[in-house]
This record gives sequence, structure tokens and C-alpha cells, in this order.
Amino acid sequence: MRIAITGARGQLGAALAVALADGHDLTLLGHGQIELSDPQTTDQIAATGADVVIHSAAYTNVDGCARDPDLAYRVNALGTKYVALACRRLGAPLVYISTNEVFAGDANRPYREYDPAAPVNAYGQSKWAGELAVHELLRDFFIVRVAWLYGGERNFVRTVLRLAANPPADGLRMVDDEVGNPTYCADVAEGVARLITTGCYGTYHLVNDGSCSRYAFCREILRQAGHADLPVTPIRLADYRRDSTPPPYTALANLAGADLGVTLRPWHDALAAYLATLA
Ligand SMILES: NC(=O)c1ccc[n+]([C@@H]2O[C@H](COP(=O)([O-])OP(=O)(O)OC[C@H]3O[C@@H](n4cnc5c(N)ncnc54)[C@H](OP(=O)(O)O)[C@@H]3O)[C@@H](O)[C@H]2O)c1
Repeated sequence: MRIAITGARGQLGAALAVALADGHDLTLLGHGQIELSDPQTTDQIAATGADVVIHSAAYTNVDGCARDPDLAYRVNALGTKYVALACRRLGAPLVYISTNEVFAGDANRPYREYDPAAPVNAYGQSKWAGELAVHELLRDFFIVRVAWLYGGERNFVRTVLRLAANPPADGLRMVDDEVGNPTYCADVAEGVARLITTGCYGTYHLVNDGSCSRYAFCREILRQAGHADLPVTPIRLADYRRDSTPPPYTALANLAGADLGVTLRPWHDALAAYLATLA
């Protein structure tokens, strides 16, 4: 298949390029090739002649989105509309990578694919508007919601490892009431590679199995990396000042993918696999 991937130099985009390298003709579209907020994106993606488009690019700086919601909307919502219009012209299905942050975060059990979205911050609102554009413009699409990604150069795991190598004098402080699914990009990429062969269009939650708080995730990273003794103080989300308001509880449940046999391994195992690649 001819597959175009946006955000190809991002964490997930790079993993998708690896997972799909064999047997496919890939067009890798980084920020240097397309500017999502530019309507010309439609012509540029249509010109690739792709059979499938995977749209992983996004303005992912959630605090930046909070400071400039118009920019978030232009990149994540209008940009997704331009990509969807290209797919319509190509007659190609779209894989739109979306987020756990489309949910309000006040549930008491993991969100299912059918649960109503109610984003509470500009990033989540812009990604949800992207989902709506996909629904409005296309018949054949996969919306793949992911969460708490790691795998590239800049992510939570790398940050914790850096702090462990050079701990602050007053120790580490991590939020204990924000809960999600730590998820390895390589596993999502394998899942997407399997999903696109099914033709079973719809909305999916592709996350590593299980959920935890940021604090528990940090502790597990430290344990697996041999720094279990490093003290970490749990703090409340309310005590961690930032421009964006994270939805507190956004664990996702994978119902739709599981019915097709597309599931991701437990998050502890995925973390071990990632740490092994860094060793
Ligand atoms: N990271 C997470 O924890 C997480 C959680 C839930 C959902 N997601 C979703 O998963 C997808 C992949 O995330 P990721 O972690 O791989 O993100 P990432 O590493 O930040 O990569 C995003 C890519 O999009 C590109 N990009 C940003 N603005 C653009 C624009 N205006 N026009 C064209 N390209 C642009 C970036 O290029 P530059 O760096 O050059 O700007 C970057 O290569 C995104 O759709 C994101 O919303 C991520």
C-alpha cells in the first residue's frame, strides 16, 4: 500500500514509519513538508496518491494550546479537516490519531469508545473538533485515541530518567491524582499497522493495558531503571500550577480493538521493552 504519514518526525510518527516500513510505500510528511494550518495541506496530501493516510501530526504542547486556543484549533481541528478533505479526494481511508483528553476526566472507570466526549481544555477541544471534522467529511476512517505516549526523545520516561541521574535537592514531586495509560509508541504503531488491514472502520482506544497515576508511573520507571530508593513525594494536581487543566482521570478501555484481536501488552512490560532499547 501507499501510505502517507503526517507528523513523521514526532514520537508516534517515527514509530509508525518503522512499523510500516516493510511491504509499504511510505511518504513521510514532517513539519518541514506540510504546515497543517495552511489549507494547501489538502493539495499536498492529495498529491501523494496515498491509499491510506495516517494523521499523527498535532500541536501537542497542551500548555501552549491553553495559551493560544486559536492556534490549537487551526492546527488540530482545521488541519485535520484539510487532511480529511485530501482523503476524500483520494478515496483513501484516514487514520486520525486522537487523545484521552477528549474526555472530561471525572469518570470512575476507564472510558469506553462509546462514552461521550467532553473535553475540558483547549488541546482536548481542538482534538475533539478534529474528530468531528473526520466524522463530517469521511465515511472510511479510523479514529485511534492514545494516551501518555513515550518512545521518542522527549517524553515523561526520559524526563524521570534525567531527574534520577541528577536529582533535585528537595527530591522528586509527582502528581498522584492524574490517572492514565502509559503507552509505548512502538506498540501503538504495531496496533495501527494491524488495524488498517481489517477495513473495520470506527473509533478505537489503543493504549497499553492497565492504568496508573503519574506518581505510580514515575515510581515504576525508577524501580525498573534501578533507582527504586530515590524518594518521590506525591502531590495533588491542584498543587501543580500549569497553563492547561489536565482532566484528572482519563484511563481508556480498549473494547473495539480487542474484538478484532488488536490489544496492547500491559504497560509495565511495554516500559521494560522501552528501557531495554535505551540501555
Ligand atoms: N504525546 C502524548 O502523550 C499523546 C497523548 C494522547 C494523544 N496524542 C496524539 O498522538 C499524536 C502523536 O503525538 P506525539 O507524541 O508523537 O507528538 P509529537 O512528538 O509532538 O509529534 C507531533 C508532530 O507533529 C508536527 N507538527 C506540529 N505542528 C505541526 C503543524 N502545524 N504542521 C505540521 N506538522 C506539525 C511536529 O513537528 P515539529 O516538532 O517540527 O513542530 C511533530 O513532528 C498526536 O496527534 C497527539 O495529539 C499524544
